[in-house]
Amino acid sequence: TNPRIVLGIESSCDETAVALVDTDRRIVAQRIASQEAEHAPYGGVVPEIAARAHAERLAPMIEAVLDDAGVGLADCAAIAATAGPGLIGGVMVGLVSAKALAMASGTPLLAINHLEGHALSPRLADPGLDFPYLLLLVSGGHCQILSVEGVGRYRRLATTIDDALGEAFDKTAKILGLGYPGGPAVEKLALEGQADAVSLPRPMLGSKEPHFSFAGLKSAVLRAHESGEHAAADIAASFQQAAIACLIDRLDHALEQIDAPPNLVVAGGVAANQAVRGALEAFAGERGMGFSAPPMALCTDNAAMIAWAGCERLPLGEFAPLDIAARPRWPL
Ligand code: KG4
Ligand code: ZN
Repeated sequence: TNPRIVLGIESSCDETAVALVDTDRRIVAQRIASQEAEHAPYGGVVPEIAARAHAERLAPMIEAVLDDAGVGLADCAAIAATAGPGLIGGVMVGLVSAKALAMASGTPLLAINHLEGHALSPRLADPGLDFPYLLLLVSGGHCQILSVEGVGRYRRLATTIDDALGEAFDKTAKILGLGYPGGPAVEKLALEGQADAVSLPRPMLGSKEPHFSFAGLKSAVLRAHESGEHAAADIAASFQQAAIACLIDRLDHALEQIDAPPNLVVAGGVAANQAVRGALEAFAGERGMGFSAPPMALCTDNAAMIAWAGCERLPLGEFAPLDIAARPRWPL
């Protein structure tokens, strides 16, 4: 049978993104516009600015992606848009655009949970990755361990009780004066530092509770910086190493609670970090598990993962009504 094609729209944070992906895992066309320049002067994402930028860019980007592929809306099996969780103004822009296209073309609408997009993204890149898998989902807004048992079947084993890991990277970057967005800047600076130079806490290490916590680590980074005793590169390297130790410890704890699935998978923006990927791969190896991580461009926010989640959801036939609401909070 011919592959079916899904149009994906992502607008939940500071990336405006549109993609066409087919059920044979082909990214047929995609465009992504970062709002980095707009938000950089404020040191973080300003929701109102984000929503306005999505509203200006999205329609021409959809047109361009369809043009690039020579595809019309009538050729699409569905239009998949992020319907939450995220900054509500931006989510509304993407979802309402998708509704208008669905209404005008008669193409069915799929309301996709952004976290499901991240959770299924490794399967877009890796055709051999079957359910179930243990997923570490680490982004700017979330830090979770999930048992991914099928499409729409996610069991949450751990979450953060305060900051997400990407948020901790961003705050560390801000403290060290590296600007926004912080994760890649901290990773780069850490390469020049000694990971054992600064003694930092590893919150929750060894805890019987399943969860993550990064607020204490961030505060310790601030104290280390304010002491004036440490080079920024040493703080960055020590922070990254402490964060990785927390990830490994919490995965270890999660694996005590369940029968280990064949594969460990990482997704979300922080999965773009090479040190994180390397440590997780080594951990999976020690546990006799396979390891899978999507290519970098599929880790940070993008529309291919939303279109792919749409492809995965097509067989379920659960299309969204035109009055479906955007959700600022929407646990998986
Ligand atoms: O998945 P994502 O693009 O957006 C959310 O859904 O949150 O994740 C963005 C987060 C930011 O906090 C960013 O600093 C972090 O991912 N990030 C990184 C790296 N690249 C992005 N963190 C550490 N190292 C990186 N290379
Ligand atoms: Zn995301």
